[in-house]
Amino acid sequence: MPDPIKVDRTQVGIIGAGPAGLILSQLLHLEGIDSVVLEVHTRKYIEERVRAGVLEQGTVELLTEMGVGDRLKREGLVHHGVEFRFRGRGHHIDFQDLVGRSITIYAQQEVVKDLVAARLASDGRIVFEAQDASVHDITSGAPRIRYRKDGEECELVCDFIAGCDGFHGVCRTSIESSLTIYDRTYPFAWLGILAQAPPSSNELIYANHELGFALLSMRSPEISRLYIQCDPNEDIANWPDARIWEQLHLRSATLDSGWKLTEGPVIQKNIAEMRSFVADPMQYGRLFLAGDAAHIVPPTGAKGLNLAATDARVLARGLVEYYSTQKTELLDRYSEICLRRCWKVQHFSWWMTSMLHRIPGESAFDQQRQLAELDYVTGSRAASTALAEHYTGLPFTM
Ligand code: FAD
Ligand code: DHB
Repeated sequence: MPDPIKVDRTQVGIIGAGPAGLILSQLLHLEGIDSVVLEVHTRKYIEERVRAGVLEQGTVELLTEMGVGDRLKREGLVHHGVEFRFRGRGHHIDFQDLVGRSITIYAQQEVVKDLVAARLASDGRIVFEAQDASVHDITSGAPRIRYRKDGEECELVCDFIAGCDGFHGVCRTSIESSLTIYDRTYPFAWLGILAQAPPSSNELIYANHELGFALLSMRSPEISRLYIQCDPNEDIANWPDARIWEQLHLRSATLDSGWKLTEGPVIQKNIAEMRSFVADPMQYGRLFLAGDAAHIVPPTGAKGLNLAATDARVLARGLVEYYSTQKTELLDRYSEICLRRCWKVQHFSWWMTSMLHRIPGESAFDQQRQLAELDYVTGSRAASTALAEHYTGLPFTM
């Protein structure tokens, strides 16, 4: 390894400017703790990357308390319920009535924009296009991150490193030999589109249909976000817009009169794999993993971004305790606290996924069982309350 040309120091070195890394950096800043965020991509790239859209009420409250809630409050769409559609009929789950809580639709890239703006406005350091990051001496008191910026070898000496570099990052793989990995892939994927079309409903619609799952979501009063279940090996080239719309129409069709799916020009299209993944523990020495770097959930429960936010919140608390008292009690419990929540969210996401998708090879019995489960969940106040509690977000506990 060549000698670094530029050596810098910070209290917490954060790898990855996704929701986990940026929320952590902002929370630390509010407590007077210095951090540097290293991001492999450009600012434009991370501010335009289309991903999640559903924020739990607790995530909205956290962002608001952190001082990045103004635009979210103005532009976010507050939803008090969700619809499940099966056997051609819609069934409304009223979050407000059941648990007195709500969710907000606000695109992940908008959350990222707001956080980047807040960090830079208070002279926060974010190094974009930081190449080939690697972590060193993580069991010592002075772990280091090596990376390259504009062709220069750089080193960041830290007290702690936060691995917030997503599922394909370097942090987890650097310590994988000391982790237990729980992994499950699903035999289907989601084909997602963004369309210049006003949403067809005021609420999200999750549809179980014999042709496969469909989800009708939105980003704004003008933009719809729509998904259909497809084969994981599917080539997007086999899905011209007309075929996608046809499937969306068929899978969301309802016997209730007066409802119609709105169409419009497709402005973005992608296929996302479905996976459940947990790395245990989420810490090794002074390297702490947060968000997708440590765990992945299938998107059906809309939980990934929210789980990343709670990890950042727990880690920030642990670091604040350390810098104010020199105690490591919370940091020592970081993994246990996060994994306890993570496994409940894993279960919810797996359950929603299993209830709503056509599973290749499933029998007619399995399909009837799925429909009975949907019938029960939407018909029983006890069952809908459990769903509403999970969907709007479990309480934050330490
Ligand atoms: P990321 O957002 O992945 O951020 C990691 C960052 O690290 C990235 O900016 C990356 O460029 C950077 N990075 C990676 N490697 C390196 C490196 N070596 N050096 C420096 N930087 C690096 N979740 C929900 O809650 N609700 C939803 O509705 C939802 N829908 C989704 C739809 C899709 C299509 C996808 C793909 C995901 C969805 N998710 C959803 C999941 C959600 O987007 C993720 O869980 C969330 O992005 C996790 O945040 P993170 O900060 O942990 O990781
Ligand atoms: C969206 C994504 C999800 O995974 C989900 O469950 C609900 C909505 C969305 O992108 O809007």
